Amino acid sequence: MRLLVTGGAGFIGSAFIRLSLADPAITRLVNLDALTYAGNLANLPGVDADPRYRFVHENICDDMLVDSLLVEEKPDAIVHFAAESHVDRSILSASPVFQTNLRGTFSLLEAARARRVPRFVHVSTDEVYGSIPAPHEAAEDDPLRPSSPYSATKAGSDLLALSYFTTFKMPVLVTRASNNYGPYQFPEKLIPLMISNALEGKPLPVYGDGQQVRDWLYVDDHCRGIRAVLDKGREGEVYNIGGNCSLANLEVVHRILAATGAPDSLIRYVTDRPGHDRRYALTSRKLESETGWQPGTDFESGLAATVAWYRANTEWMQAVKSGEYQSYYARNYGHRTG
Ligand code: NAD
Ligand code: DAU
Repeated sequence: MRLLVTGGAGFIGSAFIRLSLADPAITRLVNLDALTYAGNLANLPGVDADPRYRFVHENICDDMLVDSLLVEEKPDAIVHFAAESHVDRSILSASPVFQTNLRGTFSLLEAARARRVPRFVHVSTDEVYGSIPAPHEAAEDDPLRPSSPYSATKAGSDLLALSYFTTFKMPVLVTRASNNYGPYQFPEKLIPLMISNALEGKPLPVYGDGQQVRDWLYVDDHCRGIRAVLDKGREGEVYNIGGNCSLANLEVVHRILAATGAPDSLIRYVTDRPGHDRRYALTSRKLESETGWQPGTDFESGLAATVAWYRANTEWMQAVKSGEYQSYYARNYGHRTG
């Protein structure tokens, strides 16, 4: 199978590439990535040596480039990860999320339709369902009620992708996963930010009362789920991918403090995120029953492996926290902490 992966230099895309290149059935893998602040070729150590792999440093919004790449590479499938993926950044500035998540997805869909790509997996998120009152778990046919510019553009791109199935019979599949964690995650998201700050003895900024609930999914389990959908999913269908691990943010922070040996006194309650969704919860029964996929990593061992990775990769962390990260941190947290 010849794959075109978008956003493969990011957190989840790079894990998917590592998983895919371990499989001899993948005969070609093209990684199309614009290398935004979140894209990092250091997330893919050693892959350049694989003759099946090619990196293309371009933007998915470039219609002509995307079209000519499909003509040249003739992929059997596109797995579309590229996105502006952080809610807080989408609140600070909504323009990049609009461009990449909506316009960029449109560009890929148009080119894939014109060049008759046999399979298109659009990687999306459980955030499109919005805040879910307990004890409900969102299923694939639940209404979409996105709250942030990030989740609204993901919901829009899901609907656009599904419309290409309905209207043009294009072989589109959509995945919606819960909160991922694991190695190589940029330290703007809850778990890597808290690990990084705890290891450096810096304050841990908890939004609001810290009782918001998220479902945690180890990144390799997510990637296996996407592969299951790629191989066995039905065209025109949506598949939730969850970790069966609901935890309040404060509980996650306490577990990180325990795993890093940092003191509870580092916790700071700070101004809440505007429009903050209280609870995400989803069921992955459809994916499990149709493909046999299960999340294999429990939170305790996944978090231990993640903390161990960040402890062992201080150079990676220092590099990603230099430059732009400092100004982002000041913009997002300066007013919260005063
Ligand atoms: P990330 O921010 O770590 O990586 C995004 C990647 O996309 C980067 O390599 C970046 O350079 C690239 N990119 C951004 N704009 C681009 C453009 N215009 N053209 C080409 N490349 C571009 O994101 P992630 O956390 O790995 O998320 C990947 C996908 O999974 C996203 O679609 C996200 O919505 C979805 N998702 C993420 C999570 C999560 O918890 N992180 C959960 C569910 C779904
Ligand atoms: O649910 C899937 C989604 O999970 C993905 O689609 C997104 O790409 C990904 O960013 C993530 O979104 P969240 O907003 O849930 O993740 P984040 O790590 O930003 O925040 C998780 C929770 O932690 C949320 O309730 C906000 C809170 N939080 C986050 C940060 C960064 C804090 O309390 N303090 C913080 O500093």
